[in-house]
Amino acid sequence: MLANVKILRIMALCFSSVILLFVQSAAAQKFEQLGKTPQLGWNSWNTFGCNIDEKMIKDMADVMVKSGMKDAGYEYINIDDCWHGERDAKGFIQANKKQFPSGIKAVADYVHSKGLKLGIYSDAGNKTCAGRPGSRGHEYQDAIAYASWDVDYVKYDWCDTKDINPKAAYTTMRDAIRNAGRPMLFSICEWGDNKPWEWATDIGHSWRTTGDIDPCWNCEHSHGSWSSWGVLRILDKQEGLRKYAGPGHWNDMDMMEVGNGMTEAEDRSHFSLWAIMNSPLIAGNDLRGMSDNTRKILTNKEMIAINQDALGIQALKWIDDGDIEIFIKPLAKGDYAVLFLNRADSEKIYVHNWPFNEMKDDISKHEINFNKQHFNWKNVWTDATGNTYSNLTISIPAHDVVVLRLTPKK
Ligand code: GLA
Repeated sequence: MLANVKILRIMALCFSSVILLFVQSAAAQKFEQLGKTPQLGWNSWNTFGCNIDEKMIKDMADVMVKSGMKDAGYEYINIDDCWHGERDAKGFIQANKKQFPSGIKAVADYVHSKGLKLGIYSDAGNKTCAGRPGSRGHEYQDAIAYASWDVDYVKYDWCDTKDINPKAAYTTMRDAIRNAGRPMLFSICEWGDNKPWEWATDIGHSWRTTGDIDPCWNCEHSHGSWSSWGVLRILDKQEGLRKYAGPGHWNDMDMMEVGNGMTEAEDRSHFSLWAIMNSPLIAGNDLRGMSDNTRKILTNKEMIAINQDALGIQALKWIDDGDIEIFIKPLAKGDYAVLFLNRADSEKIYVHNWPFNEMKDDISKHEINFNKQHFNWKNVWTDATGNTYSNLTISIPAHDVVVLRLTPKK
């Protein structure tokens, strides 16, 4: 009899442990339905830094709709660093009362009323990069606060994290978000320092691959212990990373600098490269004052369709011809996007012999023999058309791109 009771007790204990394990593993998941294609949005940091407030954020939501960006697919309005006030007596974070007197929930309500979503920013350390309260030790409370404000997106930075294990820190915040119960896209921002592409597939929906961007073509700006980088520098740092990206987990090349001072050609290249590399497309300019050229670049629907293609295959560098590099990205229904980049400071006339150049992608297993397979193409920026039977001769201005969408000939 006593033995039976003991067995029953042991069985009950095993059963409850299994339940607990189940509950824990159910909790330990990111929200899988988010980020199936790279996220599109706007973020305050590149232009405004800490100079942000609720009126400006709401204005951006208005312009995102009026400018046609929402129609083009942009979805998130993301508040970066410096929205924070103090923690309350229980440790819950509050918005800064001067900058956000109505609170984040009111901003989220407004952004939602425009058919858009709201993103927020925190940091795995005690302090954010701009010295505001970080989430360390408050991860679950912070995620609960964001969820209670109806936030849809969390960018999680990596300042003040000496001695913190990156995988553990990002896992804790992922679990905290899951626990809070509201689907929030989780954007990992640790600059590629700890190779998040090797461990973050199940943790975040995207991870930054580099340090911060600067609005320049090929520069490095040193800030002492870290550097910020121009467009080509960030592009070159993507080498070897494409195999890690796919639906739900993207290589993030950082928020864009389109409209922030580069030439039109450089802006077009920057946008096209980020799009074809499946980077999240997060505008970083003041949308309110943007020029027509900037607006046209940011809302090029065919370029955005290449970024948002359902296969989610990041482009590969197909041909490296010195100043000219050719990237190719397999798309759904047998289409391809081909991007010719002119890295040089002068215009190039380039001749590309389609039949002469086979394409073999060991990672996505796509192959093209242009002798056997023929395509029509359309230039995504000029609407010019052609086919792949003969040589392609193109003029590419300095720092510019030519982007073609190839469709199989029937
Ligand atoms: C880091 C990030 C930037 C931005 C700032 C805010 O530098 O990489 O994208 O969020 O912090 O302080």
